[in-house]
Amino acid sequence: MIILGISCFFHDAAAALLRDGELLAAAEEERFTRKKHDFEFPTNAIEFCLRTGGIEARDLDYVVFFEKPFVKFERLLLTSLQEFPRSYPLFREAMITWLGDKLWIRQLIQKRLGVAPEKILFGEHHLSHAASAFFCSPFDEAAILTVDGVGEWTTASRGVGRGTEIRLTKEIRFPHSLGLLYSAFTAFLGFEVNEGEYKVMGMAPFGVPRHVDKVHKVVRLDRDGSFELDMDYFSFHYSTHRTFSRKFEALFGPPRSSEADFSGELTSHDQHYADVAASIQAVTEEILLAMASALQRETGLRRLCLAGGVALNSVANGRILRETDFDEVYIQPSAGDGGGAVGAALWAHHAVLGNPRRFVMEHAFWGEEHGPDAIERLLRRGSIAYTRIDDEQRLIEHVVDRLQRGNVVGWSQGRFEWGPRSLGNRSILADPRRAEMKDVVNTKIKFREPFRPFAPSVVLERAEEYFVLPDAARHYPARFMLYVVGVRSDKHAVIPAVTHVDGTGRLQTVSEAYGPRYYKLIATFGKATGVPVLLNTSFNLRGEPIVNTPAEAFNTFQQSGMDVLVLGDYVVEKPAAR
Ligand SMILES: [Fe+2]
Repeated sequence: MIILGISCFFHDAAAALLRDGELLAAAEEERFTRKKHDFEFPTNAIEFCLRTGGIEARDLDYVVFFEKPFVKFERLLLTSLQEFPRSYPLFREAMITWLGDKLWIRQLIQKRLGVAPEKILFGEHHLSHAASAFFCSPFDEAAILTVDGVGEWTTASRGVGRGTEIRLTKEIRFPHSLGLLYSAFTAFLGFEVNEGEYKVMGMAPFGVPRHVDKVHKVVRLDRDGSFELDMDYFSFHYSTHRTFSRKFEALFGPPRSSEADFSGELTSHDQHYADVAASIQAVTEEILLAMASALQRETGLRRLCLAGGVALNSVANGRILRETDFDEVYIQPSAGDGGGAVGAALWAHHAVLGNPRRFVMEHAFWGEEHGPDAIERLLRRGSIAYTRIDDEQRLIEHVVDRLQRGNVVGWSQGRFEWGPRSLGNRSILADPRRAEMKDVVNTKIKFREPFRPFAPSVVLERAEEYFVLPDAARHYPARFMLYVVGVRSDKHAVIPAVTHVDGTGRLQTVSEAYGPRYYKLIATFGKATGVPVLLNTSFNLRGEPIVNTPAEAFNTFQQSGMDVLVLGDYVVEKPAAR
């Protein structure tokens, strides 16, 4: 039984391939087209999946799309009608794009893949999210919470998964949306919607949540975690380009200019916006905690599966673990809409076709791999000086030596990661003990805002020595860098480059079983320095997708202040590195 899952035409397009319920491949389209958050039909990701499976489209038993386009179209039509005439531009844009491709997905898939129409199935947006977490989790039974911007009508849902069945029993509907609320503040703070949400989260610890009362005016929260937006403060339901209204500006002041660089050195001007970021982050956490607590009370369950774009809010996730009665949480690394491709395929395999479960997503390495031939071809063709070190221990000791000297290392190994986080296969690495590395990597390598924090990768066995995460091995979200937790106070000064201003870190636990070479690298660094931790940030330049091929990795290395590049067993160094 071979099933292809597809997600596209909204946020991140992606494809995923299942054989007999086991995932073979999954990737976001942006990694192939080099267009960040590419949402077009994922032709390249599909080709990659078929290639990896060694099959052709005609071998597919089913193709599953992650949502129901007609229901979504209905929502756009009804919302436009309610808000007419001010919604006219939105209506016109929707008509043009939807009557083009978006509505006719079945025909499009049929045409592009040559698959018979009866083999094409449609999931529901939030069910695909729910399935992407629950069916990838090791849990037989768990509570499920999905929270995002919006799917067809649903913006949040909750229920229970048991065996091969998922029941979503409660939902919140458009326009009341936690994701769209956070996005409105993202836009207000001068960041790009669907991209800058991380920046809001990173900015929040610089501020004081002194505007929480004002945020409560725009969103009213009930004890059971349900909420309503006061739509007078928003414009996303009728405008194509504005998410908040004049009334919103009257409450929070003029929006922050998108060009303004927030450096983390606070002027009084920036302080206001940092306070606003702290306030929306605080209310988001409050709502998520209320939702999760209510779900825990209703179900009595101790295990939770979280999905949807909001589940990438790693600060809130850490609090859900610490402050609710859930003991274990599973979040799949691509928790946003891209993950819907995996979810839709698993939903069809289990919930529709009734097949038993046999898969757990233990790691995130489902993308494309480039072998030594491809690497060597690139290096020879470009007459690039390199060293090939076949002996793995020697290779690792070489890299550890460079890291200790303060070099920044581009590290590309094996299959690229599924989801927005680099987890040691397409990573930029540095010594976390050197405080200056935060600035070096932000300004010379990534060309991004100097305030943004970096994540630490730590060998699993020693995670608890550095971070406040008891029983670290149990926590899947920490494997996928989806929890922010406290850095132990005696370690703040030991790993300053990965300790955020509020004393927290977004850790990644690395185990020998699921990332052997990366594990060896961190462990060897630990042996040499006493600190088994590395600074790990995604291998890309600002505004670009994470690299896929050796050529992309090499170009990024050349265009930035990186010192050393490691592609598989091949090492390239800039003269200054040695
Ligand atoms: Fe979604």
